[in-house]
Amino acid sequence: MRPPERAHPPSRLEYPPIQPIYAGFVRERRALPLHDMSRAMRICILGATGLVGRESLDLVHRAWPGAELALYASRDQTLEHAGKSYKVRAAASLESADAPRGDLALVALDDDHSQRYVPRLLELGYRVVDKSNTYRLDPKVPLVVAGVNCATVTDAVHLVANPNCTTIPFALATGPLKRRFGLQSASVSTYQAVSGAGIGALDEFLAESKAGYAEPNRFGHGFNASHYAGNAVPHNGKTDDSGFSAEERKLVQESRKILDFPEFAVSAQCCRVAVAVGHYINTWLTLGQATSLAEIEAVLGDAKQTPFVTFYAGSSGDGLSALSCVKDRDHALVGRLRTDARDPSGKSICLTMAADNLRLGAATNAVRIASRWFKGEDAELNAPG
Ligand SMILES: NC(=O)c1ccc[n+]([C@@H]2O[C@H](COP(=O)([O-])OP(=O)(O)OC[C@H]3O[C@@H](n4cnc5c(N)ncnc54)[C@H](OP(=O)(O)O)[C@@H]3O)[C@@H](O)[C@H]2O)c1
Repeated sequence: MRPPERAHPPSRLEYPPIQPIYAGFVRERRALPLHDMSRAMRICILGATGLVGRESLDLVHRAWPGAELALYASRDQTLEHAGKSYKVRAAASLESADAPRGDLALVALDDDHSQRYVPRLLELGYRVVDKSNTYRLDPKVPLVVAGVNCATVTDAVHLVANPNCTTIPFALATGPLKRRFGLQSASVSTYQAVSGAGIGALDEFLAESKAGYAEPNRFGHGFNASHYAGNAVPHNGKTDDSGFSAEERKLVQESRKILDFPEFAVSAQCCRVAVAVGHYINTWLTLGQATSLAEIEAVLGDAKQTPFVTFYAGSSGDGLSALSCVKDRDHALVGRLRTDARDPSGKSICLTMAADNLRLGAATNAVRIASRWFKGEDAELNAPG
């Protein structure tokens, strides 16, 4: 179904949320690593049965293979994942007086449930990376893209917000350009995968796609014109008086915060397309100074200046696609660099980005953020610096 794009995922909040109390949870500075090395690191994943939670599970095994894991979701259940069986507990059990303390919590819940459980996790001593929208614009909480502004994740910080899945690749490409050439403005048009709406929406899309494409009708009359299958639809959830949706406002507000650029003139239009995984983003950027495409390529193609980006040289975009993201899951794919002929000053360019929304756009960035506190064993999952 695709009713207007809904709050993500549908809220099943049963109790009034606890008010945020994270501000009180700043401890003294200590040398990294923060956990007692004589015992295994304790990691919990909230929302472990969801799309992002499952990816987090895979990455935790890569980054911290010896860690003790505790998985939480809406209720007690067993998760079968990647050939293994995991015991999952109801997140509400974290509210009991004897709930286990731990080192790191990766939270992949909707906004309401993040608001309910993040304060409790902090109280239990966890360092928390939250992937919902709840804390992203809170001035007391760093909003971090690893490779762009991860220096804000210091020992004194106990809660970090993970940005939206389109903001992360956008910031990975624009951050280094801003640092080298300055940045004035950006127009952004996104083509976002259905998995961005959660496991329920993805499963429904796959079932409707299978049924719809099974019909011998070249015009797609078998599809529902307001659903995702076989379609492109506006990402129109929480459209406000400005006429822009929550997804569009997130890209604007979050990129301003991450790039530390409040006056950034940026506007976005977002839609969902009939793709399972992999967001595709077209951008028109005006840099702070005129420069050559060769100089821009030198920045974007250099992993030291532009970490976690696979750069596709040339203008055609050969090899750059939404589906190629699922083969290069922990990088943003960037290419189709061209001069924007509308701007005679030579400052404006066109650029295309794509990223796996579940990995680079969510779980991978969160693990890289956490690596600032707990260095991992997989170098690809450690934030630079
Ligand atoms: N999907 C993406 O591309 C993406 C990208 C960036 C950020 N995010 C953010 O990441 C978060 C998770 O997204 P997702 O796509 O992984 O969602 P999802 O696939 O719909 O999974 C939702 C998770 O929340 C759990 N949950 C639902 N109700 C709960 C409750 N009452 N108490 C505790 N847990 C509950 C579910 O557990 P059950 O299985 O027990 O129902 C499931 O594990 C969201 O905030 C989303 O905005 C998603």
